[in-house]
Amino acid sequence: MKRLAVAALLAATTLASSANAADKPLEARGTWSVTTRGSAPLPPMGWNSWNAFGTDIDEEKVIASAQLIVDSGLAAKGYRYVNIDDGWWAKRRQADGRVLIRTDNFPSARTADGNTSFRPFTDRLHAMGLKAGIYSEIGRNSCGQIYGDPTGPGQPAGTMAEREIGLYGHIDQDIALYFGEWNFDYIKVDGCGIRALAADSPQVKSGRLRALDPLIDYDTIPRTNIPAVKGLFDQVGQALSRNKPGNNFVLSICLWGSADVRSWARTLGNLSRTSEDISPNWERMLHNLDSASRRELYAKPNSWNDPDMLFIGSGEFDDAHLTEARSHMSLWAMLNAPLIIGFDLRKASPAMMGVLGNAQVIALNQDAAAHQAVLAYDGDSVQIFTKTLADGTKAVALFNRTGSPIDVKLIASHLKYRADQPITLTDLWDGDTKSFTNEMPVHLERHQTLLFKARGTREHAQGLYLSEQPGNVNPAVDGIVHPMADPMVYRGLLPWRSTKADGEHPVYGGWGGARADATPFAQTPKIAGKTYHSAIGTLANSRLEVRNTGFSTFTTLAGIDDSVADPTARVRFSVHADGKLLKQTGWMKPGDAPAAIAVPVKGAKIVELVAEGNRPEMQNVAVDWAEAALDR
Ligand code: GLA
Repeated sequence: MKRLAVAALLAATTLASSANAADKPLEARGTWSVTTRGSAPLPPMGWNSWNAFGTDIDEEKVIASAQLIVDSGLAAKGYRYVNIDDGWWAKRRQADGRVLIRTDNFPSARTADGNTSFRPFTDRLHAMGLKAGIYSEIGRNSCGQIYGDPTGPGQPAGTMAEREIGLYGHIDQDIALYFGEWNFDYIKVDGCGIRALAADSPQVKSGRLRALDPLIDYDTIPRTNIPAVKGLFDQVGQALSRNKPGNNFVLSICLWGSADVRSWARTLGNLSRTSEDISPNWERMLHNLDSASRRELYAKPNSWNDPDMLFIGSGEFDDAHLTEARSHMSLWAMLNAPLIIGFDLRKASPAMMGVLGNAQVIALNQDAAAHQAVLAYDGDSVQIFTKTLADGTKAVALFNRTGSPIDVKLIASHLKYRADQPITLTDLWDGDTKSFTNEMPVHLERHQTLLFKARGTREHAQGLYLSEQPGNVNPAVDGIVHPMADPMVYRGLLPWRSTKADGEHPVYGGWGGARADATPFAQTPKIAGKTYHSAIGTLANSRLEVRNTGFSTFTTLAGIDDSVADPTARVRFSVHADGKLLKQTGWMKPGDAPAAIAVPVKGAKIVELVAEGNRPEMQNVAVDWAEAALDR
């Protein structure tokens, strides 16, 4: 009786405190809310069958690639995951719901009892020192079944029910099979089955696939059932935790930027696709790049932005396009994107192996400080990305997006280095070293990325600006009330659609998200007439978690950004250390001079920055934590 009462009381308190957390999103809590499930402290590296083979996969192809990854030395450089994508399944057996493998293509999966098992396959990869990845679908049917040729290779066969090989309704059973029994290490979970099978879809009308009321409306964020989508992926994460001991798994969410996944992927998954599929052409690469490049604050150790796999080796990134291949690699490395090769390595030339295997470029991607690059210059023609590295140096990429050569300038302040001291650059592709002071002219060939490691004298010598350490700044609450599509993503021709519809529209949620060195709407931060080239820009009603890696003081100039048009907006700013209030400003109005804040944070693990608005819904009120820095 007594025990029951205590349990009830405990349950009530737990409920009350979780209700509090949801009701009071701005309340400082002194925690880091990035998922601790799974293990991806650095961006995963490896190989995946999709870009190379589509659904036409078999064991020979996968093992041959795995062997080449080992033999060529790519494995030693970090490429560890060998992932099979769509096309491995035969059917879901109706007697017990077990998913069976296509043993014609994966002969080692054959078992005497007909159950089929990938265990020999994963054992083999593990024996080679590699890790094994599998692919599934959160709905009932995979993308290949929905969008691919129903008579093509790798399609599940049998009755409609037998062809339902996705996780929907089988999450626990399938994850137990893939991880508990077959011992995979990594799973990519797609979402076509919860997006494309409305009752009036051609696949359903023809009687080929069963209807599943779409949870995702790809083009219309408000018509997406975001909590339901999130709930399904949460169930997958829980099943993974139960079935893979030691938290030793990677959950790759493949929702292509839909369902406002930008805002919640960090709490559930280890990587999250930011866009639809890449294809081996320049325009598409720009599109995928842009889907992740302004989300620098949303990539964290254990949860990375995924602009899709590498297409190096194919199409406009092949041997005849070495400049483009190097750009693709440089940019993915700077963005801390997963480096997943999508090429039939049996065909790779030494030049392509050189691009994929450039140890210095890989080192940028795998740098221990784990900061996604920040845009120091952002234009339609040229972009300059910088990245603070664990050894205190920086990397800088100057990227020509256009088809013509361009002359540009690299200036000391792009790097937040002093303009009166020499800056040394080492070219990570050709090893050249050069030095400059203040500014340097740079010639970029068409589609070229020049990638340098840079050494100079830091402008902010006493510590690090928060915008130099985006991996330590988590927009736990970014103030977005109604998710809106990001209009800054390049909208090229979709190779598989050409001009057959009415154009490409912004689709991926994220406009208004917190930014490093920009406002949420891509302006230069400006308070009371003064611009700041170092700042965290966010919205009113936001709470940022900042990991303090041993600094003593936090300083900033906080204020409402001059871009705010609403004269009635009021915001008050507060700073907290491990949940305790250190400083709160009064209510500030647009045009007010910034409030100077300097507080001791020595020993505190989490510093929280809260910007509270005077109304609950203030989607357009941009605020700046200008010159926000952690100092020694
Ligand atoms: C989706 C994904 C791709 C690939 C295919 C497989 O399109 O985005 O990366 O996995 O499904 O069908």
